[in-house]
Amino acid sequence: MKETVLSGIRPTGNLHLGNYFGALRNFIKMQYEHQCFFFIADLHSLTTHPKPDDFHGNVRRVLAEYLAAGLDPEVATIFVQSDIPEVSELYVLLNMLAYKGELERTASFKEKVRKQEDNVNAGLLTYPVLMAADILIHRPTKVPVGKDQEQHLEMTRVLARRFNNLYGQEIFPEPTAFNFGSDLLKIPGLDGSGKMGKSEGNGIFLADDEKTIHKKVMRAVTGSGPTEPNSAMPESIQNIFTLLRVVSTPDTVQYFLDKYNDCSIRYGDLKKQLAEDIYKLTLPIRERIEAISADNDYLHRITKHGAEKARESAQATLKLVRGAVGIKRF
Ligand code: TYM
Repeated sequence: MKETVLSGIRPTGNLHLGNYFGALRNFIKMQYEHQCFFFIADLHSLTTHPKPDDFHGNVRRVLAEYLAAGLDPEVATIFVQSDIPEVSELYVLLNMLAYKGELERTASFKEKVRKQEDNVNAGLLTYPVLMAADILIHRPTKVPVGKDQEQHLEMTRVLARRFNNLYGQEIFPEPTAFNFGSDLLKIPGLDGSGKMGKSEGNGIFLADDEKTIHKKVMRAVTGSGPTEPNSAMPESIQNIFTLLRVVSTPDTVQYFLDKYNDCSIRYGDLKKQLAEDIYKLTLPIRERIEAISADNDYLHRITKHGAEKARESAQATLKLVRGAVGIKRF
């Protein structure tokens, strides 16, 4: 069945392997099979970076990386969040249905409060509401995101249900994660704990060159090797294998697993292989990023076309929403 699919990404740094394997790679496959909307969540980035050095430049870079990785503007609707004012209106309306307590309980809010205690702004608290508005405005059935966004998607379903119940109309479908029959993927960082993010040292970016990839991977936390055959793997080594599984062939993974299990593994070799395979996989993407980001006309055309298509869909939803709430013109 053809689904309506939507997903977004914040332009707060270069795309890393977590973004690619957790999300982008799936977008590329699904764009030819479903009706897809993909966007750059530039407003969301203000919750953590209220005054970025180069707001527009950040959007341009991520857009170029999206396109270089294989998103096809001929088939998918690719747009920038702030080009769609209807999202902000739906955000206001959904805010009336979101409760402080439930927003305070979301894991991402709690994490941000820890990380930026001097800027706990209302945008951070209502981050999941803006995300729900992004999603619901196009009434998609599927949202392809990594595991880290699961809770936000649950919040989106809660708000959709609450809106439908309150106004007695089935306006919003409750979207579910798109996961290709496997579990949602969490790409770990290189520092032995947590997910890959944009912080220095923990992530590998699609735009990283060979030397940088090598340096970062060789610095990844490993510790000393196993001394007992078939012993349990520490988390840092499991993380290396998780990365190896997504970039290398099954034979390569098996080779190193066997070596781990008979205690002959050398972590230096494992990391060298990982760095090489990451390099091979990202090389064609990296080559396209530069050409695309230099082509302003192309980026202008794509975002204009994308915004037109996205606004058409957003306006249709907002008309129903305004009708349900009872907003009318004199
Ligand atoms: P963001 O910008 O943090 O990440 C974009 C996408 O990459 C996935 N991802 C990961 N997947 C697996 N492992 C990781 N280490 C990893 N890091 C990132 C994310 O799951 C996401 O799919 N709130 C969103 C942006 C957003 C959005 C939306 C997404 C705003 N509105 C509407 C979908 C629908 C975010 O911060 O993603």
